[in-house]
Amino acid sequence: MNKKLLNEMNDQINKEFYSGYLYLAMAAHFEAQNLGGFAKWMELQAQEELEHGMKFYSFLNDLGEKVDLKAIDQPQTEFGAPKEVFEQVLEHEKFVTGRIHLLFEMAVSEKEYAAQVFLQWFVNEQVEEEKNATEILESLNLAGDSANFLFMLDKTLGERKAD
Ligand code: FEO
Repeated sequence: MNKKLLNEMNDQINKEFYSGYLYLAMAAHFEAQNLGGFAKWMELQAQEELEHGMKFYSFLNDLGEKVDLKAIDQPQTEFGAPKEVFEQVLEHEKFVTGRIHLLFEMAVSEKEYAAQVFLQWFVNEQVEEEKNATEILESLNLAGDSANFLFMLDKTLGERKAD
């Protein structure tokens, strides 16, 4: 595989694992706030991110390319209200979408066909990721300062099942 693309793919393993770490930190924050449903949703999201990282890991191994694991940054430990947390989630997912698009563009320009097909799954996944974050953010905007609404949303988010 083209060396620059390989390097970015290895970086992406790191970024997906970091996403998992960030969302786990958010889950812990929600646990501390007694928002168990929000916490459960975030925990499952964290697991999903580790699966994303593993997809890149397996893809590189399948091609016989060298996996290069880098240090994972420490996520922040303090977070704001649920609305601010989900604003941050959406912003982070937009960043990840930008990364996936960059990888895809590189795969196209370097004529890396297997990588293009592999990355297509992630292009679609990012549409889903941004949609989910946007929907929850819209619900939180509707909730305003209503504790009842927040309680109901917590219950709904707690019903999320692992894919
Ligand atoms: Fe791995 Fe949330 O994108």
